[in-house]
Amino acid sequence: MGGAPDLRFSIQPGGCLRGSLQIPGDKSISHRSIMLGALAEGDTRISGFLEGEDALATLAAFRRMGVAIEGPDDGQVLVRGVGLHGLREPDGPLDMGNSGTSMRLLCGLLAGQRFPVTLVGDPSLTRRPMRRVTEPLGRMGALIETSPEGTAPLHIRPSPGLKGIDYAMPVASAQVKSSLLLAGLYAEGETCVAEPAPARDHTERMLHSFGYRLRTASGRTCLTGGGRLTGLDLEIPGDISSAAFFLVGASIAEGSDLTLTNVGMNPTRIGIVNILRTMGANIEVGHWREAGSEPVADLRVRSAPLRGIRIPEDQVPLAIDEFPALFIAAACAQGETVLTGAEELRVKESDRIQVMADGLAVLGIEVEPRPDGIRVRGAGVGAMLGARRSASEVDSHGDHRIAMSFAIAALRTPGPVAIRDCANVNTSFPGFASLARSAGLAIDEHRL
Ligand code: S3P
Repeated sequence: MGGAPDLRFSIQPGGCLRGSLQIPGDKSISHRSIMLGALAEGDTRISGFLEGEDALATLAAFRRMGVAIEGPDDGQVLVRGVGLHGLREPDGPLDMGNSGTSMRLLCGLLAGQRFPVTLVGDPSLTRRPMRRVTEPLGRMGALIETSPEGTAPLHIRPSPGLKGIDYAMPVASAQVKSSLLLAGLYAEGETCVAEPAPARDHTERMLHSFGYRLRTASGRTCLTGGGRLTGLDLEIPGDISSAAFFLVGASIAEGSDLTLTNVGMNPTRIGIVNILRTMGANIEVGHWREAGSEPVADLRVRSAPLRGIRIPEDQVPLAIDEFPALFIAAACAQGETVLTGAEELRVKESDRIQVMADGLAVLGIEVEPRPDGIRVRGAGVGAMLGARRSASEVDSHGDHRIAMSFAIAALRTPGPVAIRDCANVNTSFPGFASLARSAGLAIDEHRL
């Protein structure tokens, strides 16, 4: 984050991934557990909470709005809910750090409060588009001011009254959908959000668990304002987006045999498994169960020869955060992989198409970035990524998922890999380097 010392990863080449890993809690679900727990009546006891900077930014914001929260302590959090109308005005701007989910969801949730509030973020978050939420929220009667570019800081003033709308989202976005549904809790009448393709549905599942009535049919979700949420015990599964680095790493590194336990397998999140399997990956899914109204399973992945594919566009929203890791799989595959319909990747924590293309080029991979995707010519089964035996240096541009993707790529490089600007790995995956080391990746961290 701004001004923080750089953290570098350096990884010795080769090796494989073996053993059994417990992946930290799901980031999307962790955010929502604090938000809904705070708005509920009664206590919410959370286990498996992700103690990463993004979810902690959400937690800190609710503390600043008067919610008593105990923990996190080894993933355990106790939220003493204040009810839908119990939040208090914070004593200054709320800092969302690097977290787009915190900013966009809170924007909707706070649009219905009786006090003004300002949301700010780090330089990366301050560049990201916010009109996708402020514009439809404005139609509901929210009073939100952005910068002239439609970015943070967001100044939210109390609205004389929100009204439900029927909104057809132009892109499949869980953040937009969730933001409007959270505003809808405070709106008069019904708020409906239609999605062009299924985006993650954690908000809907969790609202239902907290006892709030929703209707979902044919990709359109509706709720009526003025209800109430009731606190509960919530178990958060491991984050499939974090598991993704290990699914790819074990697939590309010969001799790997890795089991990832307790991974969230919500059907709106499993694009990574679907796409890797289509490429030829050997992923066994077993021990299915439910945790906090989410499906969960154990995943066993063994190395396998991958082939390039044309990624079906219907998988894009289901794997939206996993493309940096998938591009590494594509770079190791036989033949060409083509991604289209993924322009959203350009407005994530970094421009993930360009930043990945630049890093892959450093590793000697032929790539063609396109406005809405990329073409990657794989090195081929068993081949190394490029011929350099000297160290390759890649810049993650402060993007956590880019840093972890190139760390995994070192399993197939002929020389060491150094990655710059890795501190933000702590936003989603604290302990990544030591967990990866325990499975066999020769990774070190250096604080500069
Ligand atoms: C998220 C939704 C996705 C995803 C992000 C988390 C969420 O963003 O990329 O990391 O928790 O709702 P979009 O809604 O912009 O697709």
